[in-house]
Amino acid sequence: MQQFSSANLTLAVLRHLADGAFHSGSDIAAALALSRARIWQVIEGCAALGVEVFRVPGRGYRLAAPISLLAAPTIVACAKNAGWRISVHDAADSTNSELARAAQNRDIHGEALAVELQTAGRGRLGRSWKSPFACSLTFSLGWRFAQGVGALSGLSLAVGLAVTTALERLGAHGIKLKWPNDLVLDGRKLGGILIEVQGDALGPSTAIVGVGLNVRDAARIAQELDLPVADLGDARLVELDRNHLLAAVLDELATMLDRFARDGFKPFREEWNRRDAYRAARVRLLRTGAAAVEGTAQGVDAEGALVLQTAGGRARFLSGELSLRAAARRASSAGSARARPLEN
Ligand code: BTN
Repeated sequence: MQQFSSANLTLAVLRHLADGAFHSGSDIAAALALSRARIWQVIEGCAALGVEVFRVPGRGYRLAAPISLLAAPTIVACAKNAGWRISVHDAADSTNSELARAAQNRDIHGEALAVELQTAGRGRLGRSWKSPFACSLTFSLGWRFAQGVGALSGLSLAVGLAVTTALERLGAHGIKLKWPNDLVLDGRKLGGILIEVQGDALGPSTAIVGVGLNVRDAARIAQELDLPVADLGDARLVELDRNHLLAAVLDELATMLDRFARDGFKPFREEWNRRDAYRAARVRLLRTGAAAVEGTAQGVDAEGALVLQTAGGRARFLSGELSLRAAARRASSAGSARARPLEN
C-alpha cells in the first residue's frame, strides 16, 4: 500500500479530480490503493483548503471547476531557458528550507522547486507566509555565485525587478516595487521575496531565492496574510495557467541572475528606481536595534541601499522595514480609492 502524508494524499486525490469531470470513489480508491472510506475522509478535508468538491450519488465526485495544478514537464515545455532543473512537490514545510536541506548534500545551482502547499512558509523578519491552495506561485531557486555573500547586496531588488518584468511581458499592468523585496499594486502586496545565503565572505556563495506570488483570489489570501493584498487579476493578468506563468518568471530570473553574477546590482538600478512605489514619498524606516528614521525616499543606490533625505541630510540604509508616514498615507489614499497602507 502507498504511504501518503496527509498533504500528499489530499494532493493525490485532487490530481484525480483536477479535470473537473466526475470520478467515482471506487476508481480513486483503486488508483491510490486506499479504501473508499479513506477517500471520502480526504474529500471532506478538501474544504479546509478552500476546494469545493461535489458528490453526486451514482456518479461520484467532481470539483466545482477544473483546476490547473503545477507539473514540472509542463513548466519545462513552456520555458525558453533549458537551464533550470525544475521539480514540483505536492507539499513542503517551506521551499526555502527544503532547498537549504538539499544544499547540504548537493550543489543546488540551477534548481527550481515549486510546491502546491507550503505548511510552514517563511517571510522576511521571522514572519510566516501563507498561501491558500492553488491561488499562488510558491517556489525557490538555488544559485551559486563566485563572489562572497557581501557582493549579493541588491539581489532581492533585482529578483523583484525580474519577476515584475516577466509579468509585464505577459500583460500585467501597474506593478511597482517596494524596497527591499515586495511587489505591490496600488499599495497592496502582490508578492514577496525571501533570500537566504550560504557560503564564505570571500566566496563562493549560494543564494536560495524564495518567491511567493499571489495569482488569484486575493480576498482569500488576505485572510491568511492579514494585510492588504492584490492578485494578478488586479494587475489585469487573468486566466493564465500557473505553469506558463512560472516558466516565464524562471526565464527572466535566469537572465537576471547571470547578469547579476557578472555585474552586481548596478545595471538594474535605474529600472528599479523607475518602478519604485515609494519614490519621493515621506516614509518611516523601522530598524532592528536602532531608532526609526523618517525622511523622503530617494530611490536606491548602485548597491541597492535605500537612500533617504532626512532632517540630518542624505543617508543610505541596507536593511529595515519601510512604511508610508501617516500624513503621506492620507494624501495617497485621497488620490485613489483602492490605495491602502502597506505595513507588513
Ligand atoms: C516576505 O514578503 O516576507 C517574503 C515572502 C517569501 C515567501 C516565499 S514562498 C516560497 C519561499 N519559501 C518560503 O518559505 N518563503 C518563500
